[in-house]
Amino acid sequence: MANIGFIGAGKVGTTLAKRFVYQGLSLTGFFSRSFASAVFASKVTLSKAYEDLKDLVEDSDILFLTVPDDCLKETVEKLTHLPISGKKLVHTSGVYSVDDIFPNREDFQVQAVGLHPLFPISDKEKVWETIHKATFTLEGDKGLVALFSELLDSWHFTYKVISPSLKSKYHAAASISSNLYCALVDESLSLMQQCGFDEKEALMALKPLMMANLENILEKGPKLALTGPIERNDICTVKRHLQAMKTDFERHYYAQSALAVVSLAQKKHPQNNYSLMQQILKDI
Ligand SMILES: NC(=O)c1ccc[n+]([C@@H]2O[C@H](COP(=O)([O-])OP(=O)(O)OC[C@H]3O[C@@H](n4cnc5c(N)ncnc54)[C@H](OP(=O)(O)O)[C@@H]3O)[C@@H](O)[C@H]2O)c1
Repeated sequence: MANIGFIGAGKVGTTLAKRFVYQGLSLTGFFSRSFASAVFASKVTLSKAYEDLKDLVEDSDILFLTVPDDCLKETVEKLTHLPISGKKLVHTSGVYSVDDIFPNREDFQVQAVGLHPLFPISDKEKVWETIHKATFTLEGDKGLVALFSELLDSWHFTYKVISPSLKSKYHAAASISSNLYCALVDESLSLMQQCGFDEKEALMALKPLMMANLENILEKGPKLALTGPIERNDICTVKRHLQAMKTDFERHYYAQSALAVVSLAQKKHPQNNYSLMQQILKDI
């Protein structure tokens, strides 16, 4: 594959670039908001740090836009003032489609694709080693979707081509399984700390429960993995949980999450009547 340049030397840019080098692709280098980030990324990928975006554009056939989602449009706008005819653009946003960020790309004779790694990329230096475990999603111009499909196939990476119009829904799904889950665990930790555990002790104590539950979910799906007082319709237990919460925030947080559990329990046991449980949770 032709020379690849990165605009945005953050976690995703540096990680993908490092993996691309490992897979044998050729990099030009990085342009970033701060030159220091470009220098750091260029050092770990043995490529060049660019002070001028124009020079990176001139040297690269493929440009990865690995800037924050909110900066994608302004980055594309800047690119339209540079000689981009014939270039291939790749963005890595989960929520935006190529049509959202560059609807008039045909006027500039530019092709674009979205390549989203469904993976938490939490640092710049280590994740490149495990990124092959991710499923990547692709959307955009046919030729580029085909090019990246072929590339990912050749690396035995998993990918799925998705409809551009479904990106927001797809990204919401990803957020529920990752970011929202973090917040749920944080709330659980906070309650454990009110019971005398420090954070480390609480994490250690919860780990076997969380791991076994996650394994069950991954193996059998959430419906069959579901256990606990809501599934059993133990109304008194749930009432005691609600009474134990110190703040309205905690009670509402618990109740809203628990209402989703009621729906899941109802799907699992259509013969059960969960209406009283549901009412108690709605009435708090
Ligand atoms: N992190 C994840 O888990 C993850 C996973 C999948 C997809 N994504 C997507 O990947 C993209 C990048 O996310 P990230 O996590 O890598 O973000 P990040 O770590 O914050 O990196 C963004 C980089 O872009 C640079 N930047 C910001 N504004 C810029 C501009 N106007 N021009 C040039 N460079 C600019 C930043 O500047 P400095 O030069 O100041 O450092 C930073 O290095 C986003 O679209 C995100 O949705 C992220």
